[in-house]
Amino acid sequence: MARLILSSLLLLLSILYISSTAESAVARHSGATDFIKASCSATRYPVLCVQCLSMYSNAIQRSQRQLAQTALSVSLARARSTTAFVSKLGKAKGMKGREYQAVKDCVDNMSDSVDRLSRSLRELGHMGQAGGQEFMWHMSNVQTWVSAAVTDENTCVDGFAGRGMDGHVKASIRGRVINVAQVTSNALGLVNQFAARH
Ligand SMILES: *[C@@H]1O[C@H](CO)[C@@H](O)[C@H](O)[C@H]1NC(C)=O
Repeated sequence: MARLILSSLLLLLSILYISSTAESAVARHSGATDFIKASCSATRYPVLCVQCLSMYSNAIQRSQRQLAQTALSVSLARARSTTAFVSKLGKAKGMKGREYQAVKDCVDNMSDSVDRLSRSLRELGHMGQAGGQEFMWHMSNVQTWVSAAVTDENTCVDGFAGRGMDGHVKASIRGRVINVAQVTSNALGLVNQFAARH
């Protein structure tokens, strides 16, 4: 009888334990999600920002640094795949003079933006626990490069503003690059928040 009571007690305790850890995991998750939403609300494209980052809430938790780093990684990945996409389109036959030139310039600008974004990520990664002057120095490098990456991406978009281009090619490139430029602009906003709140 005593044994039976003891084992039911143990069972009850383990149920309580399991449900409390599950609960705290849920609380942690929603804490991170709220943090991402609050930080994204100050960016230029808040809905896109939450869309891009909420799936990484476990890695981000409530860390400004992780948030900025993740936003930059997402932006870099999109810039890379878009550069590959545009470059492949540029190799298609039958592209006309102006259009060909715009695609070529766009690939140049997008490759620049990929370089700047990957340099920014490395810089953030190397900062470690740097404080004071050193932190500000690395941070201002990152801010400069990410801001230049946004300019590169917008330059590509502007190249497709004119008439006289294949509507389909133009639309598919513009749409993708505009998305990358918005994601990068958001990443810049989150980098600036990290710099300001450090
Ligand atoms: C974009 O690429 C073109 C062609 O290489 C170049 O002339 C222009 O300076 C680039 N713009 C930026 C902002 O890098």
